[in-house]
Amino acid sequence: MANEIDILENELRDRYPDVLDILLLDRTASTEKQPKNIFFATDNYKKIGPDYSFVSPIRKELITGRHGSVITPRIKKSLAVQKSRSKDMAEVFTPVWVCNAQNNLVDNAWFGGEGVFNTETTGKDGKPSWTTTENKIAFPQGKTWQDYVKDNRMEISCGEAPYITSRYDTTNGSVIPAENRIGILDRKLRVVNENCDTQEAWLEAAGTALKSTYAYEWQGDSLLIARESILYAVLDNFRLKFDDVPNLESIKKFAEIISWNVWQMDGLKCVIPCSCKSKEVTEEPDLFADPAGRAKTRTEPCEGCAKDNIRKHNGIYCKIMDWDACKQIKFVDMVK
Ligand SMILES: C[S@@+](CC[C@H](N)C(=O)[O-])C[C@H]1O[C@@H](n2cnc3c(N)ncnc32)[C@H](O)[C@@H]1O
Repeated sequence: MANEIDILENELRDRYPDVLDILLLDRTASTEKQPKNIFFATDNYKKIGPDYSFVSPIRKELITGRHGSVITPRIKKSLAVQKSRSKDMAEVFTPVWVCNAQNNLVDNAWFGGEGVFNTETTGKDGKPSWTTTENKIAFPQGKTWQDYVKDNRMEISCGEAPYITSRYDTTNGSVIPAENRIGILDRKLRVVNENCDTQEAWLEAAGTALKSTYAYEWQGDSLLIARESILYAVLDNFRLKFDDVPNLESIKKFAEIISWNVWQMDGLKCVIPCSCKSKEVTEEPDLFADPAGRAKTRTEPCEGCAKDNIRKHNGIYCKIMDWDACKQIKFVDMVK
């Protein structure tokens, strides 16, 4: 499992019942009575059939069974599809060494020093790489390992979420073992591994690590891959620490947190992609201009879209969970 780039939806469905259903949920669009799923938000799959259009929800049946290989990471997509996604959605993934260097900058600021998780090096092939530090992570005065695990971090427009977990290098598909990963969540899980020796304590702390790790993405397929990858990063680390698999209830809880924290959003508008609508407005007839008294209709665009005002959209503003307060909040309200 830890060595696979492409997490297979059939395997996920069969090994961990209900977990794929949870990973497909759109928390903003769902109500308690009516669960709703994330949607494709790309035309890449429409050739398969009418259920795979841009606006179609990603249902489990569409990506499992004989359709089990429909969703693949970018590195396994055809070159033509890769090109069109770059053109349409600016989809270009960041090499893992760049993610590492940037995550290091954030940690350098947090720890007040360099080289905490790894040292940036040049690999045998002459390309930038890193060497993971071996000693248990030490924390600066006044900060604890728990503070690090619950420090909120986010990857914007996350694609397959390479800044969150580096299970593989998204640009070339090379697999990275759990103990050598550089993502935001990978680092938190390393700290959890080093400080929690019972499964109970570990599961609790890993839940906290997930609750403080956020990401959003427009395209539904990449979003699902990101969600799956994040879940598998947790499972990989549990295996690394205990050579075991968490119980299904814990895996479902992790999936629930991920389905809230890694969500589908147009990051420029803070709404579900393409949910803003133009309205047809009927105007009262002007009897002086048109004595026949014919009513006129005009199209009124979404005010937020027309004025590029992030707070005035008529689309569906995305909700995220404030885990400390245990309440849902609109993401736009967090934007300064
Ligand atoms: C350059 S890629 C970066 C992906 C990933 N963060 C990385 O560094 O490899 C840009 C990503 O942004 C997504 N995207 C483009 N426009 C977006 C928007 N308005 N809101 C959210 N995501 C968007 C694309 O689908 C694509 O996955």
